[in-house]
Amino acid sequence: MKPLFTSSILLLLFTSHVPPSLAYTPLSDHSLHRLLLLPPLPTTHTSYQDPDFDPLHGTLLAPILHPRVPGTPGHARVQHHFATFARTHLHPSWQLEWHNTTATTPATGAQQVPFQNLILRRDPPWSSSSSAPPKGGGEVARLTLAAHYDSLYRPEGFVGAVDSAVPCALLLFVARAVDEALTRRWEDVGEEGLEEEEKGVQILLLDGEEAWVEWSEADSLYGSRALAEAWEDTRYEAGSSFATPLEAISLFVLLDLLGAAEPNIPSYFPKTHWAYQNVAKVEQRLRKLGALETKPRKPFLAESEKEGVQFFRGFVQDDHVPFMQRGVDILHLIPTPFPSVWHTMDDDGAHLDVPSIRDWARIMTAFVAEWMDLEGYFGEAGAERVESKHSEKVEL
Ligand SMILES: *[C@@H]1O[C@H](CO)[C@@H](O)[C@H](O)[C@H]1NC(C)=O
Ligand SMILES: [Zn+2]
Repeated sequence: MKPLFTSSILLLLFTSHVPPSLAYTPLSDHSLHRLLLLPPLPTTHTSYQDPDFDPLHGTLLAPILHPRVPGTPGHARVQHHFATFARTHLHPSWQLEWHNTTATTPATGAQQVPFQNLILRRDPPWSSSSSAPPKGGGEVARLTLAAHYDSLYRPEGFVGAVDSAVPCALLLFVARAVDEALTRRWEDVGEEGLEEEEKGVQILLLDGEEAWVEWSEADSLYGSRALAEAWEDTRYEAGSSFATPLEAISLFVLLDLLGAAEPNIPSYFPKTHWAYQNVAKVEQRLRKLGALETKPRKPFLAESEKEGVQFFRGFVQDDHVPFMQRGVDILHLIPTPFPSVWHTMDDDGAHLDVPSIRDWARIMTAFVAEWMDLEGYFGEAGAERVESKHSEKVEL
């Protein structure tokens, strides 16, 4: 991605600050505690290996920390990791959808390079009662979490740990962390209770974000440009709540360049500042509860109070742009300034700050849980709640 300071698109975005009318339920302190999810780091860090995010052995992250240039075997191995993870660790109702295209790049001449986005999608169980995708599914407003998995073509051997192996691993983590509570909630409320609210969640593992020679409109965002275009042209069956999969995106949350210590995440867009504030609030509450490990000089999201003209600073060119140009609401979680290792050979596992990654995992899980109204569905209490409801039904 590329920092670009322009306000032309921001001007258009100033028209509305009003959040959509979807329910958003803050988690209780009790749930936030349950959600701590990760065992605390032992005080002697040296020998400790996080099971998910250890750069050498973590089951989510380590398989991504290799060069993964589109069309190479390293790229294919990471695709395999994602698909295997989803099939092994997520509820069987998750749909895996590939969106494959090819394009030429200025580095590779006439050769067609493959770009393959992977979409992991979970809709409420009753929504599949209509016809199958792509025609069906137009009732569901989807929280859309995105990161890119390709790595830079040059320098050769570039790993791209913050760019964007860590964000991809975080998205896998979040999907797994909310999965069971989501199952419980949907079993509990059933179709009747949710007439006007059909919320799903999808994860976009995007390909071809990086420029091959020099960042330009044509040489960058290969995967996201193709996907935004395809989703604009895909029509749901007549009478659906949404006309296209693009319109069905309730919020597009793009994670990028995360995994270094002391990130400063600005609020880039007035239109989605309310969503930024929700994530910032989650971070604040988790810090106050002592649930985060890092002790940064200031919070990761420190711009909750920002308003009005303070937004005229521009934004970072990244995978959200093709979606934003088509009217999708964007929350861009990317630090400014970029981590110092950005696009250097030092952007590798050894330069990651694992406590910051674990804190991002907690923050994002809590945000997604609030978005999906999962209060009351975590831990044993959540299981009991669903069971007692079922036994009530049996007694009746
Ligand atoms: C798209 O690419 C993926 C990953 O290489 C592959 O597994 C899948 O079969 C491809 N799908 C189609 C329709 O070509
Ligand atoms: Zn990059």
